[in-house]
Amino acid sequence: MNAPMDMRLRIEAAAARYPDQRSAIMPALYIAQKERGVLTGEVLEEVADILGVERIWVYELATFYTLYHTEPVGRFHLQLCNNLSCMLCGAEALQAHMEQVLGIANGGTTEDGLFTMSTVECLGACEMAPVMQVGDDYHGNLDTVRIDDLLAAFRNAERAGDD
Ligand code: FES
Repeated sequence: MNAPMDMRLRIEAAAARYPDQRSAIMPALYIAQKERGVLTGEVLEEVADILGVERIWVYELATFYTLYHTEPVGRFHLQLCNNLSCMLCGAEALQAHMEQVLGIANGGTTEDGLFTMSTVECLGACEMAPVMQVGDDYHGNLDTVRIDDLLAAFRNAERAGDD
């Protein structure tokens, strides 16, 4: 079983940078999510055990931040900011557009499992509002044309990956 050992080693290496293991929970969750895809209760317990911290501390952080997924999400998780700056720059209309073209409501996942769409709090990139985070990337100055282009690019990337 390589994956669990990889995850443990990576978490232990990350945790070694912190004097207090509680401070290592967020990087550990990030690693666990990269390895396992979704932070199930079992994965959260494993993270807590590796760090030797209270399980409730791990659970609290995993469920508080939109960065972490405790439920399965699509291959591309479209996280559209709907905080003040983005709202003033048209995020509401973009959300409606995305819901319509994807055929899902906020928080939903397309039937093909390709896209999950969620609205999130400020992404800290207000200067390029409206902003959407997909994976580790930020996409800013969005309008409906740019959203459509991005969705097409993600679909193409998925198809290319299938070849
Ligand atoms: S309000 Fe959207 S990035 Fe700050």
